[in-house]
This record gives sequence, structure tokens and C-alpha cells, in this order.
Amino acid sequence: MDIWEAMQRRHSVRRYTSAPIDTETLTKLTDLILLCREKSGLDIRLFVDEPKAFSGKLAHYGSFHQVRNYITLGAEKSAANDEKIGFFGEKIVLAATTYGLQSCWVGLTYSKKKIPCHFPDDISVRCVIALGHGETLGSPRSTKSIEALSATEVPMPEWFRRGMQAVQLAPTAINQQRFRFTLREGSVVSAKALPGFFSKVDLGIAKYHFLLGAGKGNFIWERNDFPEE
Ligand SMILES: Cc1cc2nc3c(=O)[nH]c(=O)nc-3n(C[C@H](O)[C@H](O)[C@H](O)COP(=O)(O)O)c2cc1C
Repeated sequence: MDIWEAMQRRHSVRRYTSAPIDTETLTKLTDLILLCREKSGLDIRLFVDEPKAFSGKLAHYGSFHQVRNYITLGAEKSAANDEKIGFFGEKIVLAATTYGLQSCWVGLTYSKKKIPCHFPDDISVRCVIALGHGETLGSPRSTKSIEALSATEVPMPEWFRRGMQAVQLAPTAINQQRFRFTLREGSVVSAKALPGFFSKVDLGIAKYHFLLGAGKGNFIWERNDFPEE
């Protein structure tokens, strides 16, 4: 499965089977997490066969079932770190999709206090990513149009359209898609979050999708605070 296919096939899955993640896949995930920790400076950890964080009422109301594997994404609280969490977290989500796993970003409907780990005092766990073998592969959902999500100051080139098609596939909290991508002269792309719950994390996720869809060599970000691939 290539990365474009992974973006198309990824859907949030909240119900999992009891099948464990095999050792080879766990090794690939661990290696990728180490690389992302190094590049981003984020606190990223993998919990395997740990049911507590998804066993409380919140997880139940959020329709989660049998989540036993998840990744925590933490950092000092800041808007820039939220964006970074989205960017690097989605890199892991799409890689996990290519490894044949299902996933779901989770900001609220789990029990943070039940995670069996003492995080450093300055680290805030902003989101987790549930992972495993889904009962289903999930399903496509509605999206805002490219016109509603972007603006162009010059005629829209094909690479920008491809970037925006990838953005449409990006997961966002409550499917809100609260961001705006703007193409300026000189192939400069600005990406901004609009006010909303977890919208800076969503922005980082969407920027990772845009980069994959548009192609790295075709544009430059107007502002970029974090290292890329
Ligand atoms: C930052 C973020 C936080 C999320 N938090 C939750 C959550 O607390 N509970 C939940 O069930 N889904 C959560 N989701 C999943 C979204 O509801 C889901 O991604 C969105 O509806 C789009 O669907 P899709 O992922 O299948 O494309 C979250 C997604 C993101 C990106």
C-alpha cells in the first residue's frame, strides 16, 4: 500500500478485535516512534496490551471497544506543539495504516489518569492514537469542498489541487475541518487554523497530508516551525 492509498483507506475505527499486533509490526512502530521523538522533541510513547486508558465511562460513551494498544502524544502546552503533535502523530497513523492496522485519534473520550505512566511535570498529554486490528475497516465520511477549505491568489495548479484532496482525507476532531490553506504567488502556501476545539492539532495533521499530496518540491510553507521529513 502506498501513502496515497493509506490516506484513502484510513478511517477512524473505535471497535477492535482481540488479535494482538505482531512483533514485526511492533518493531516497525517502535523504530518510527523513536525517529519521530528525535525529530520533533515530542514525548511520544507506545502502550501495548494496556486496557485501562480505554476502560472507563468516557471511552464507553465514545463508542470505544477493546482498545488495548495506543500511542500518547505529549509536549509542553503551546499552539506550536499542538501543530507538531498533529504532524508527527499523523505520520505514525499513516505508517500504521500501511502496516495493516486501524486507528483513531482521541482527544477526549479516554481516561488520561488511568495511563500507567508517570509523565514529567511539564508534559501535557494532548491526544492519544488508538491502534489495532479493527472489527471493521471504518468508512468514508463527508468533507468540505476544496473551495471551502482553500483560497488561491493565482490560478490553481494541479499540485495544489492534489494537496487539497489529501487535506480532505485528513482526520479532524468531530470532523470539523477548521483550517484554511492559501496559495500565494511564488508557490508559497499558508496554512492557518480557525478557532475550534483541537484545531491546531488538526492543522498539523492536515499539513502532513498536504505535503504528501502536493509533493515536497512543488511549494514552500509561508511559515513552518518544525522539521519535516
Ligand atoms: C485531534 C483529534 C481529536 C479527536 N478526538 C476524538 C475523541 O475524543 N473521540 C472520538 O471518538 N473521536 C475523536 N476523533 C476522531 C474524529 O471524530 C474523526 O477523525 C473525524 O470524525 C473524521 O473521521 P475519519 O477519521 O474517519 O476521517 C478525533 C480526531 C482528531 C483529529
